[in-house]
Amino acid sequence: MLAAAGVIWTIVIGVAIYAVRANPKPDEGQRGSRLVIYLGVIFPVVALGALLTYGLTLMPDLRSPGDGLTVAVTGEQWWWRVEYRSPELDAPVVSANEIRMPVGQRTEFILESADVIHSFWIPPLGGKMDMTPGHVTRLVLEPTETGTYRGVCAEFCGTSHALMAFSVIVMEEEAFARWLAEEAAPADPPATPVAERGATLFAQVGCGACHTVRGTAADGVVGPDLTHLASRATLGGGILPNDPETLAEWISDTEALKPGVLMPSFGMLPEDDLDAIVAYLEGLE
Ligand code: CUA
Repeated sequence: MLAAAGVIWTIVIGVAIYAVRANPKPDEGQRGSRLVIYLGVIFPVVALGALLTYGLTLMPDLRSPGDGLTVAVTGEQWWWRVEYRSPELDAPVVSANEIRMPVGQRTEFILESADVIHSFWIPPLGGKMDMTPGHVTRLVLEPTETGTYRGVCAEFCGTSHALMAFSVIVMEEEAFARWLAEEAAPADPPATPVAERGATLFAQVGCGACHTVRGTAADGVVGPDLTHLASRATLGGGILPNDPETLAEWISDTEALKPGVLMPSFGMLPEDDLDAIVAYLEGLE
């Protein structure tokens, strides 16, 4: 593009210098109009028409979903509901705030919104796409390199719009298949006495009214699925590191970390109860 722009710039400047220095001759008026018709009308119509035709022939291929994975993502204020669908799965696998994809394959995203307009954007992998309530949009992405990327919401959607992110992990095909099989499994039972107490408290306090932990009585669908929370890199919709201290802070002071969030802060919990719940959740690999 730089080379083409350089050539065009040189021609334009050359013509401008010629126009300033040339002596007008009597028949220049007619020659001038011919020049305008050929270079100003016919040339752009032919050149842009050819480029448009070429672009349109590329489109069906760029938009075709391939036969790989489908990931349904729903934007919510202010987090992401994620559902993996694949012919190899018995049932869709529900997760949140993190998307994993196999490298070198077309993954089709089915994008929806539960409340207001959001926009799904993974800048290193492709363009953004609006998530509109009551209307399904689609986006096909084909990552060419493994790695961890950051995705964001790219449409103002309320108080914590800037705190609505997610991580994207592009994996080798085999590693991804292994991970998806693990993600489809129910939650691990608590492994320590503290975690066991945490699981009991999790149920008593009512966390299960909003959150699902598959394999337990917790089956709420208001908030993010927590079945494999500990395997995710981030907390709170891609904004915080996933470690025990931060998780305790998130549970006890949610509103301060994400203004306007639907989840109430559980600051009234005694510290050792909070620690037990954190121990339980951080064991959900
Ligand atoms: Cu969702 Cu901005």
